[in-house]
Amino acid sequence: MVPTYSFEEKCIKHYSSNHQILLVGEGNFSFAVSLATAFGNASNMVATSLDSREMLEIKYPTTAADNVALLRDNGCTVLHDVDATTMSRHPSLMHRKFDRIVFNFPHAGFIMREHDSYQISLHKEVVRGFMRNGREMLTSRGEIHVTHKTSHPFSQWGIVELGREVGLVLTEEVNFSIWDYPGYRNKKGSGSNCDDTFPVGQSSTFKFAEQSLPTVFVSF
Ligand SMILES: C[S@@+](CC[C@H](N)C(=O)[O-])C[C@H]1O[C@@H](n2cnc3c(N)ncnc32)[C@H](O)[C@@H]1O
Repeated sequence: MVPTYSFEEKCIKHYSSNHQILLVGEGNFSFAVSLATAFGNASNMVATSLDSREMLEIKYPTTAADNVALLRDNGCTVLHDVDATTMSRHPSLMHRKFDRIVFNFPHAGFIMREHDSYQISLHKEVVRGFMRNGREMLTSRGEIHVTHKTSHPFSQWGIVELGREVGLVLTEEVNFSIWDYPGYRNKKGSGSNCDDTFPVGQSSTFKFAEQSLPTVFVSF
């Protein structure tokens, strides 16, 4: 796949119309729409949900279908049933590389209370699997972005350490403000209130890049 470069670069916060962008774990696809609107075109984007198309419309009945239609009309590839923990083997993704791979507010669903260690381990499995797969899908200038709450108990997930475990290094942590993304409505995504938004509170976008291999000098 040959990357498409627009003549006039348009940017929104960390993202450029010249980046090949993969969005993972979208809720009602409003983050994708926010980027697409800023770029004026979305042919550089692949936006994905774990939810099937049918489930998406049940969970977000007033917004998802319109958002997906707007994205497709603007050239975005929209995929459903994409599991972040296995995505590098997805038939539509396995031959592609991306400059930015983004998962906003990853969450494994509401099984136990948030501070329960089993619940935290479930969240960590999702993030670790996402990072491990994402790492295989990066271009040489590629970055993986995870936006996540930094207060307790979310700080217990150990986002930076999870990246390190799969060969990623933190390059930057930036305070997250939802006002940087007009139209984005972050969603709970599971449970009976899945269509509700939630306060992002203290959150950061954690940026990771592939850990470069140490240089080995061999002398004969
Ligand atoms: C708190 S919601 C956030 C949704 C969306 N990113 C947003 O910011 O509005 C967590 C999301 O993670 C998704 N998710 C959970 N496990 C996942 C997985 N293994 N692969 C992809 N997405 C996953 C859920 O479907 C849900 O949409």
